[in-house]
Amino acid sequence: MSDTNQGLELRSTITEAGTLVLNLEDVTIDAPAADEVVVRVEATPINPSDLGLLLGPADLSTMQSGGSADRPELTMDLHKGTMNMVKGRVGESMAVGNEGAGTVIAAGSDVSDMMGKTVGMLGGAMYTTVRKLKARDCIILPDGASVADGASMFVNPLTSLGFTEQMKMDGFKALVHTAAASNLGQMLNKICIKDGIPLVNIVRSDAQVKLLKDIGATYVIDSSKDDFMEKLTDAIAETEAFLGFDAVGGGKLAGKILHAMEAAAQRNMTEYSRYGSSQFKQVYIYGALDTGPIDLGRGPGLTWSVSGWLLTNFLGKAGMEKALEMRARVKDELKTTFASSYTETISLTDVLKPDVVKAYQNKSTGEKYLIDPTK
Ligand SMILES: NC(=O)c1ccc[n+]([C@@H]2O[C@H](COP(=O)([O-])OP(=O)(O)OC[C@H]3O[C@@H](n4cnc5c(N)ncnc54)[C@H](OP(=O)(O)O)[C@@H]3O)[C@@H](O)[C@H]2O)c1
Repeated sequence: MSDTNQGLELRSTITEAGTLVLNLEDVTIDAPAADEVVVRVEATPINPSDLGLLLGPADLSTMQSGGSADRPELTMDLHKGTMNMVKGRVGESMAVGNEGAGTVIAAGSDVSDMMGKTVGMLGGAMYTTVRKLKARDCIILPDGASVADGASMFVNPLTSLGFTEQMKMDGFKALVHTAAASNLGQMLNKICIKDGIPLVNIVRSDAQVKLLKDIGATYVIDSSKDDFMEKLTDAIAETEAFLGFDAVGGGKLAGKILHAMEAAAQRNMTEYSRYGSSQFKQVYIYGALDTGPIDLGRGPGLTWSVSGWLLTNFLGKAGMEKALEMRARVKDELKTTFASSYTETISLTDVLKPDVVKAYQNKSTGEKYLIDPTK
């Protein structure tokens, strides 16, 4: 036994009886193949996308702690009527955590130069003490960058950069973005300011307006205000932002964006058409911060599209060359454009404590949690 081949991994399982169980399991890591490394995980964030797998549709008011001090267990019931949504994972002990960072403690013969380096990693199963993966799924951190700096260098950075790349691929020249004060939204603002891309930010509080204005954002519109639609339409008319990325998903927001886009486009029409404007309008829904039904309403003409957007699908379409170019930019601007901040650093066992679960599942602005599995 050595610290390179024994690990402790967080797992999430849904049982036939409709219970979600979180626990820690011992795992044995095989020696790395020639192109693989073994990394001691030292920092891994809890992102909204991790929460979907970690907690599923569980009812947090039913949380019950069990197990022992070093092998705790947390159980909770699923919300009524949600079993069908997760039937594909019933009975499967699932590893969690999309990305992380740590130190290479074993390396295959082709990548032996990575031994001892600190790296950022993408590949799932990061809520663990030791992770084996292909060296190509790691980025060696630049000088002066800590594991906390590198822990979130894939998901949000590549997604926000992906939005601007998607914009170019689709032939648009400006963007609308929702839940825009998120960690990802702050990165998108920095990219757009640097690259000269007009960005219309939609937030839901005065504090979020201030946060983005302080970064340098020009257009920040508060959806909780009475003049929201008017201000949104003005900003879209000014910027020609007929492409939107919506993290909220549920509710009426995506439909309101399409309506504002159509109203902005109609300002340029010289002749009435009962089909609305000929301006093509696109909203990509890329998150489910509101898990309710998506209500698009009626009336944004007939020249529009709403579709889902997922980073992995985008990278598949964009191709390896583009993906490597994006990764290189993230590495170069890791401590500026793509900097993430965390309110709390917790241990793997903390992830299973009911009061801590309630705090990290909030997905509130500026309240991201980082796990340090070495704690
Ligand atoms: N599709 C993909 O490939 C992909 C990739 C990466 C990330 N994402 C998604 O990107 C989003 C942002 O991730 P992040 O890590 O940047 O999040 P984050 O830093 O945790 O921030 C979440 C933000 O969402 C806001 N919010 C939460 N619930 C909301 C609601 N119902 N309506 C409006 N705003 C709400 C919060 O504002 P308050 O403080 O006001 O609650 C906060 O500003 C997530 O939805 C995530 O799933 C998707």
